[in-house]
Amino acid sequence: MTLDIDKLRRDTPGVKNRIHLNNAGAALMPLPVYEAVKEHLDLELAIGGYEAHARARPAFERTYDAIAKLINCDRTEIALAENATDGWQMAFYGMPFKPGDRILTAEAEYAANVIGYLQMAKRTGVKIDFVPSDASGQMDVAALEQMIDERVKLISITHIPTNGGLINPAAEIGKVARRHDIPYLLDACQAVGQVPVDVAAIGCDMLSATGRKYLRGPRGTGFLYVRQGFMDKLEPPFLDMHSAKWTSLTDYKMRDDARRFENWEFNAAAVIGLGVAVDYLNALGIKETSHRLRGLAKTAREKLSKIRGLTVQDIGAEQGGIVTFTHDEKPAEEIKKLLSETTINVSVSSASSTLYDFQKRDIDDLVRASFHYYNTEDEIEALITALS
Ligand SMILES: Cc1ncc(COP(=O)(O)O)c(C=O)c1O
Repeated sequence: MTLDIDKLRRDTPGVKNRIHLNNAGAALMPLPVYEAVKEHLDLELAIGGYEAHARARPAFERTYDAIAKLINCDRTEIALAENATDGWQMAFYGMPFKPGDRILTAEAEYAANVIGYLQMAKRTGVKIDFVPSDASGQMDVAALEQMIDERVKLISITHIPTNGGLINPAAEIGKVARRHDIPYLLDACQAVGQVPVDVAAIGCDMLSATGRKYLRGPRGTGFLYVRQGFMDKLEPPFLDMHSAKWTSLTDYKMRDDARRFENWEFNAAAVIGLGVAVDYLNALGIKETSHRLRGLAKTAREKLSKIRGLTVQDIGAEQGGIVTFTHDEKPAEEIKKLLSETTINVSVSSASSTLYDFQKRDIDDLVRASFHYYNTEDEIEALITALS
């Protein structure tokens, strides 16, 4: 399907006010998403929250089908979450680690995940090893293979980091994980909606993602995928009367599906909105949307690299829609502020978000301009003019 960019922009009122290049922070919702959320809130206002939920159950349930279709799994393998971190934590803290076990991760790993590894290390004595990157900047898959021994109990990596264009070779890493039968947790927070993500092709056991970034869903939404065959190897860190049933005074029974990683209460309007956002993307086709946004980012990198004093900082053999750069003199925050005054939204990635990677590259912070398919070449020109 060819994308009708004018129509897609008409669906996106925010583009009239701003040049939104902070899609890796939170993308602009399209109107159908906003309308679905609002419609459900109106229903809650009119008849009550639980009553509205009962009436809108098909729309709520639809969200599981939409996500399952997008990432190629079964709806029973999806647990909804409040955000990517929430989903990730339900998986990670469900892993049975013991002293001496090893977790292998990548250099561009997200702060929240590494903090989780470090907490687990303090708690259980698990050891964390960073797999080196290759010359391109992506995880070195051969080095990963060499680091594997019987103590490795988890391979846990970020597919697309928060701080740049790098796309880690998730499927190649999956082949190693499968060959050695090691659990594989993929943080696909920036990847889902940005590039095609197929859990079967990647070979991951667990995957977390968020709603508000490249999926263009409402804030406060996310999900966790857990492979059916792997589900019983995880112990949900928390259970309630939604994830399990209280069956006797001394026992309970957990649900069979991935909803054992959820809890009872949801913002139903936001969940419905997420389903509409994923359906919207499925209708456009992730191959097309990804191709377009990566093309825009590539053009932006080429043009930015010609501006005196600016350095494009993206690494990796494969690059996505996140473009990062530094200036010889001006701090990233100042550039963000100056761009904001000309209605251009960008963000700043600072060292604490991906400390290992920033320290290795000796960078304190970066300007991050993250592109979506609804951005345009004219918007790139406006960015270049403002920066020049
Ligand atoms: C790579 C990566 N992982 C995880 C997260 C956390 O996502 P959330 O804020 O939805 O929990 C982010 C957010 O920026 C991210 O970039």
